[in-house]
Amino acid sequence: MSAMSNRRPICALPDLLISQIAAGEVIERPASVLKELVENAVDAGAQSVEIRLEAGGIRRIAVIDDGMGIPSDELSLALTRHATSKITSLDELESVHSMGFRGEALASIAAVSQLTLISRTRDADHAWSLEPGTTQAVAAAGAQGTTVEVKYLFDAVPARRKFLRAEPTEFGHCIDAIERIALAFPEVSFRVFHNDRAVRQWLPASALKRISDVLGDEFNEHGIELNAQSGPISLLGVITRPAAARARADRQFLFVNGRHVRDRTVSHAIRSAYADVLHGDRQPAFVLFLQIDPSAVDVNVHPAKHEVRFRDTGAVHRFVSHAVTQALSGTAGAHQISPTAGLSKAAQPWPPLAGGDGVRDSASRFSSTPLPYNPAWQQGSQSALHLREPTSISGGLPAWEALYQPAAQDAPAWPLGRALAQVHGIYILSQTSSGLALIDMHAAHERVVYEQLKHALDSQTMPQQTLLVPVVFRVTDKEVALAEECHEQLAALGFEMAASGPQALTLRSVPALLARGDLEALARGVLRDLEQVGASRLLTEQRNTLLATMACHGAVRANRQLTVEEMNALLRQMEQTERADQCNHGRPTWVHWNVSELDKFFLRGQ
Ligand SMILES: Nc1ncnc2c1ncn2[C@@H]1O[C@H](COP(=O)(O)OP(=O)(O)OP(=O)(O)O)[C@@H](O)[C@H]1O
Ligand SMILES: [Mg+2]
Repeated sequence: MSAMSNRRPICALPDLLISQIAAGEVIERPASVLKELVENAVDAGAQSVEIRLEAGGIRRIAVIDDGMGIPSDELSLALTRHATSKITSLDELESVHSMGFRGEALASIAAVSQLTLISRTRDADHAWSLEPGTTQAVAAAGAQGTTVEVKYLFDAVPARRKFLRAEPTEFGHCIDAIERIALAFPEVSFRVFHNDRAVRQWLPASALKRISDVLGDEFNEHGIELNAQSGPISLLGVITRPAAARARADRQFLFVNGRHVRDRTVSHAIRSAYADVLHGDRQPAFVLFLQIDPSAVDVNVHPAKHEVRFRDTGAVHRFVSHAVTQALSGTAGAHQISPTAGLSKAAQPWPPLAGGDGVRDSASRFSSTPLPYNPAWQQGSQSALHLREPTSISGGLPAWEALYQPAAQDAPAWPLGRALAQVHGIYILSQTSSGLALIDMHAAHERVVYEQLKHALDSQTMPQQTLLVPVVFRVTDKEVALAEECHEQLAALGFEMAASGPQALTLRSVPALLARGDLEALARGVLRDLEQVGASRLLTEQRNTLLATMACHGAVRANRQLTVEEMNALLRQMEQTERADQCNHGRPTWVHWNVSELDKFFLRGQ
């Protein structure tokens, strides 16, 4: 029998059930309770916050603050849905400065746990307490501030309880939540206890010090400080240099007006700024604070406030991407190229914080000298080379061979020297006028191809190659739609791709520079990037992300045997390529040793 046959009358839901349903959106696990409680403490102007967890926060969470407190006659209101002291009108919502504004968190938490609220304002003689399930405050002991204790989360809601993970996992989520708030409020001190054991403590500090206190030395050693402002918008914080990129995106913290959020626009802007020096699968680490006029951003778009919406996403994207690009450009060529060393002290614009010296030079045997890109090389080597402009490459030529022509053997002293041999199918060994160089051929070639693609696209002359045998590959409906929607962008990049079924695409042309690689992987990579960007007009930075993906697929792979001529041609190309000393993954592309360093190592003449 269908449910319709015995229809029940429409009824208003009881208040508790409403709160329990609302809690479903806001309170997912102990960490979400903790986030709400600590945000309330910060909103109340607390200078010091103590957090006590038991059993990963499942059995008990207590947050004790020294903030302004709640008057006794408002205690039960604090637990009432849609009751808040933070906004009173739509106007105020649109320019909200506090973390809270819905008047919903405590009511939701109280609906799915046993919540005790104890508070004392500055002028009160003593504290007042509201026990679980009561609405009448009773006198209690306590210092100024508020204590919220939450016990037995979801005990009364078994369906929810089932979804909680093991205690250590929930504890981990709690720590993540606390860390995010601690990063945003460095002037507040935090102490965290788990099962009565002290597990974290952060004293009031500067924003930068707090970052290294919370996240460890990574940002200290590899950080680049960023401080950019443009009218009403500013970006502060630390990003890590490309060489320190990670395999996972687990160290990316974005705060918009002090609120930790995930945001596609900003993430994409950051990614695209790194695109020149970092490839798709490597992840930069960053802690960035975006400050923007509150009326230019809507914070009320996600039930747990994990997302915001910018009024002018384009402007935010441009600003962030520009700021990060600027910060990164200060590091081009500044990496330490000694094989065993970390980053050099001189190359570190951010002075080491207390506790870490940030320098590992002592570990290295050779303190090799970097040869940063020098535009003068171009003139010096031009006459000896017969390099083809990328635009002149005819569609039919295989990519690798087409890129290079043999260089004259009696050429002048080139910065990267003359290739002698290929080593382990990966490196090129070359003799320079002053020593020896080893070059990572894939990384170097990737950089060269990237710059060539960029040049070709800039001059709107991306050479295209029509495939004799079109490549058909299976995709999702979404990808088919995307390919059709982005037809123009794809064409500009040298691709001709069309639907050949609800879940298949046919690739008919590709950029000639890349025609030799794995075309399906190339097309998929480009689609993936386009999905991130959306079908809007491609901004320069977004375009560069795409080109980096393409270059990675087009670059010569390890174990490909190169002739000496090909190797030399690659070295000459590198000398002509801007920032060729850093590959798209942020790793150095070559290392150099002076004869004098070799002599010293072999104790010659001593
Ligand atoms: N630690 C605290 N110190 C002082 N006042 C508090 C504290 N926690 C809650 N309050 C008061 O209780 C009210 C309700 O808190 P609750 O977290 O439910 O809502 P909110 O913070 O106003 O909005 P949101 O639901 O977005 O968090 C707050 O507006 C505030 O006045
Ligand atoms: Mg709140």
